[in-house]
Amino acid sequence: MENPYYRPRRLRRNEAIRSMVRETRLSPSHFIYPFFVCPGTAVRKEIGSMPGVFNLSIDLLVEECRSVKSLGIPAILLFGLPPAKDEVGSDAYAEDGIVQQAVRAIKSAVPALLVITDLCLCEYTSHGHCGQLRDGDVANDETLRLLAKAALAQAKAGADIIAPSDMMDGRVRVIREALDEQHFENIPILSYAAKYASGFYGPFREAADSAPKFGDRRSYQMDPANQREAIREVALDIEEGADMVMVKPAMPYLDVVYRVKTEFDLPVAAYQVSGEYSALVAAHRNGWLERERTILESLTCIKRAGADMIITYFAKDAAKLVG
Ligand code: PBG
Repeated sequence: MENPYYRPRRLRRNEAIRSMVRETRLSPSHFIYPFFVCPGTAVRKEIGSMPGVFNLSIDLLVEECRSVKSLGIPAILLFGLPPAKDEVGSDAYAEDGIVQQAVRAIKSAVPALLVITDLCLCEYTSHGHCGQLRDGDVANDETLRLLAKAALAQAKAGADIIAPSDMMDGRVRVIREALDEQHFENIPILSYAAKYASGFYGPFREAADSAPKFGDRRSYQMDPANQREAIREVALDIEEGADMVMVKPAMPYLDVVYRVKTEFDLPVAAYQVSGEYSALVAAHRNGWLERERTILESLTCIKRAGADMIITYFAKDAAKLVG
């Protein structure tokens, strides 16, 4: 065989040269850290299926926010565990709802930290579905009204960015109109545009106590088998006024991240969800995978596929590693 003319290994010989030609770099400035806020004081309850992730009461959450900010992470994503649930998820849009209280506390203690509020009803409804029910299914248009109310409650509390994750049709438009009417025209919407009905959300439902009491979410979240439909969903959300779009989960859906990134010109977020986190942590704990290496590899690959921002439960660990 003839000697190869081009030898790719020339640029892999040592770390200095590999680093110089590296195409993708992680920075804490692209991480978003999710939190689960719960009632009470001094509560720090570890989630069984997500070691290292906690339900935190507001006082401890504020402390955590200081440390997140000091690591160079610009934003958190907030989920709420309300003191009580009902059929229509009232705490989601109550002025003193758990998330609204937490937003006020964080914004007054750590004003420079961006607070993104997840906007959905499933943590707040007694049945665990993402909206109001009619005849055993989530009623789309009734739910839109409740979502608009919740978006306004979050905005009034001081949320910097609103992130609807419910997957109702037409929600971005309704939320945008509600915000604009009340002079919140400068609050961006980060829409969970391509959100799949994924088995990888299992541990989150323990963390947020949001498992549906009957059925599943397949009548509103996307079928994991579909890629082209994601393009349609993203296009719709952009038309309706989304400022940033999200693909969720992340690692099993990198083809979707890549297509969304190449076909649209808005910032793209990817959510490395609870099950992706828990699967890695379980393997780390068994000594089956190298912890630091696989955390960084998973995040690098999500970014390489096209994510501008990554929502990840590893944000703090990764920030310390790449900081
Ligand atoms: C609320 C919501 C979910 C997640 C984010 N927002 C759960 C679901 O849709 O069932 C999942 C996040 C994760 O698994 O980390 N609708």
